[in-house]
Amino acid sequence: MRQIPFIGLLFHFLLLPISSQAAEPIVPRLSAAHAELTDYGFPVGLLPIEVTAYAINATSGDFYVDLSGSCRITLPPDNYLAAYSKRIKGRIVHGRIAELDGIRVRAFFRWWSLTGIRASGENLVFEVGSVTAKYPSKNFDESPACGGLRSSS
Ligand SMILES: *[C@@H]1O[C@H](CO)[C@@H](O)[C@H](O)[C@H]1NC(C)=O
Repeated sequence: MRQIPFIGLLFHFLLLPISSQAAEPIVPRLSAAHAELTDYGFPVGLLPIEVTAYAINATSGDFYVDLSGSCRITLPPDNYLAAYSKRIKGRIVHGRIAELDGIRVRAFFRWWSLTGIRASGENLVFEVGSVTAKYPSKNFDESPACGGLRSSS
């Protein structure tokens, strides 16, 4: 029984750094790809925070963005479920992303591939082929976290 206070003290010291670390606020650090998005006139919230790599050809606008894995995110304001592939590709010019590949949205009981996104004043216009849906850009001011909702595809 004499050892209990010592063990208690040991645990106290072991746990102290962990608990003070846990108290640190988690501030998501946005990648260079997010900064590039804003340079092209888009809000950062189009990309989840888990960007691991990206490359862009400044001449053609061809780009890819790699995430740490494929993931699913609920998009504001109508809570559409979006599925991001591990690699997202497309062609970007100011205010317009075309030939998009790697983002799908769930609606009307099936998945639709987003083919393009346009910035139009205060709005973003999402394109699925010739079908479009308009949402205020301010809904995408924050970069969402993939969280634990990773899918295996
Ligand atoms: C970038 O795009 C231009 C125009 O399409 C092309 O000529 C050039 O080879 C590309 N550069 C790279 C590194 O792919």
